[in-house]
Amino acid sequence: MKKITVLLSIFVLALGILAAGCGGGSKGDKKAASGTPAAKEELIVGTEPSFAPFEFPEKDSKEFTGFDMDLIRAIAKEMGYKKCTIRNMGFDALIPAINSGNLDVSIAGFSITEERKKQVIFSQPYYKSGLAFVVRKDVNDVTKFEDLQKKTIAVQMGTTGALYADKLKEKGAVVKTFNTSDLACMELKNKGADAVISDLPVLQYFLKNGGSEYAKLAGEPLTAEDYGIVISKKNPELAKQVDAALDALKKNGTYDKLYEKWFGSKPAK
Ligand code: ARG
Repeated sequence: MKKITVLLSIFVLALGILAAGCGGGSKGDKKAASGTPAAKEELIVGTEPSFAPFEFPEKDSKEFTGFDMDLIRAIAKEMGYKKCTIRNMGFDALIPAINSGNLDVSIAGFSITEERKKQVIFSQPYYKSGLAFVVRKDVNDVTKFEDLQKKTIAVQMGTTGALYADKLKEKGAVVKTFNTSDLACMELKNKGADAVISDLPVLQYFLKNGGSEYAKLAGEPLTAEDYGIVISKKNPELAKQVDAALDALKKNGTYDKLYEKWFGSKPAK
């Protein structure tokens, strides 16, 4: 008799767990950024959209497009948000805006670094990137990073590229810092700089879309960096949900589809 009671209660318990599992899967139950019901409606995303092919203004539209933009919209949808609003701000303003609660998440080709990890939570990595540099086409005495010592380098403020350029400052390089990545490249075109240090896929896209008329890649890639989505340390629950959504999109093929759309090949496994 006792055995039957034990078995029965196990059965009832299992049923309960199953039911809870199903309930948890319904989108409406998922908590939003601030945990308030109103916030479930809308995911507020910050970016700095001068970073093609990850985030840049869509032609003839007020929207932003790119791999990051497609990905975060898919993530928001997967998480059950009705709306995904993208806000444009300075790159160095994004982490402060996350921490003050003005943004739910930020996706902006953010490299996962130890320094930043002290301030925010990163999602699981979603893209393998790294720093590289281009020089003006008429610059022929730069074949490696150290050769930039006597040169003028343009970078975007607050980026890992800017940090990397600083290594050459004490050796005599002039580093010019710009608010956007586009402006840094423009400086090269206008001969105000000899080189730009930035993320390799962004430099490749820039060269392919007109940049190769006056710029070329030089030297070897400088670093390997992973991109992650930025979330406030006050919101570990949201970070878990973003990771779960990324897992789901990787599993159901959406991630690969977007990757191929923007980079022309399947992601390396
Ligand atoms: N990956 C580099 C970093 O984390 C550059 C990112 C710049 N992103 C942008 N949207 N402008 O510092």
